[in-house]
Amino acid sequence: MSQDSNKKRTPLAAGNWKMNGLKESIAEIAALDGLIENNLPASCEILICPPFTLIMSFQHILRDTKITVGAQDCHWQEGGAHTGDISAIMLADAGCEYVIVGHSERRSDHHEDNGTVMKKAEAVINAGMKAIICVGESEKEREAGATLRIIENQLKNSTSKAMSSENTVIAYEPVWAIGTGKTASVKDVEEVHNFIRMLLNERFGEDGEGFRILYGGSVKPANAESLMSASNVDGALVGGASLKADDFNGIIDAYRK
Ligand code: PGA
Repeated sequence: MSQDSNKKRTPLAAGNWKMNGLKESIAEIAALDGLIENNLPASCEILICPPFTLIMSFQHILRDTKITVGAQDCHWQEGGAHTGDISAIMLADAGCEYVIVGHSERRSDHHEDNGTVMKKAEAVINAGMKAIICVGESEKEREAGATLRIIENQLKNSTSKAMSSENTVIAYEPVWAIGTGKTASVKDVEEVHNFIRMLLNERFGEDGEGFRILYGGSVKPANAESLMSASNVDGALVGGASLKADDFNGIIDAYRK
């Protein structure tokens, strides 16, 4: 199994707001900007992915700050008759730099399979942005001892040769840890992250070492430091705790130490 080549990758702390946030949330994001403005750990990237309705206003507020804006999903086509969908080029046009694809809530609520996730990630990359591709096993799969097999299948079939460490980030999010308050142990996280690194090295050669692998699933200020210092963990994908400036800033603290 590959060892962590001492974390040369720039960590990414990404907030996934899911279906949360109204106009009044602009104040929360302004507060976060205030907290990190002069106190951003060296070479740490901060990303917020609000719902589509807030992307333009967040982008406006965050334009010259250290926080970048992303989206939570996109369609794989550039445009056309797809009522209710948003394309990657629209998101790039709105100022997004990243798009999350294949989140487990999309995979389950909208029946997205690995092939769909791959097409979406390619659309994100073709539009000049970076894709955050999520993978993760369910509780049943973990209990059945199938975790690594599930991760391997999702990773192989959601990524393509068009991807590189420059345009793609992987997020490991065990489904049973999302929004439940249950966090995977550091040992379990390292096992899966080291495994993902090995698969990336196999598939992308030398560049495999450059991919960032985020951990997601009930990350909060109290557990961020131990999770973020684990082998092959290059940042966090944070749901609930990214909604409050103080909490998200507390997670970013893991990179201030
Ligand atoms: P959580 O969500 O931090 O609320 O568990 C993480 C995610 O789903 O991205």
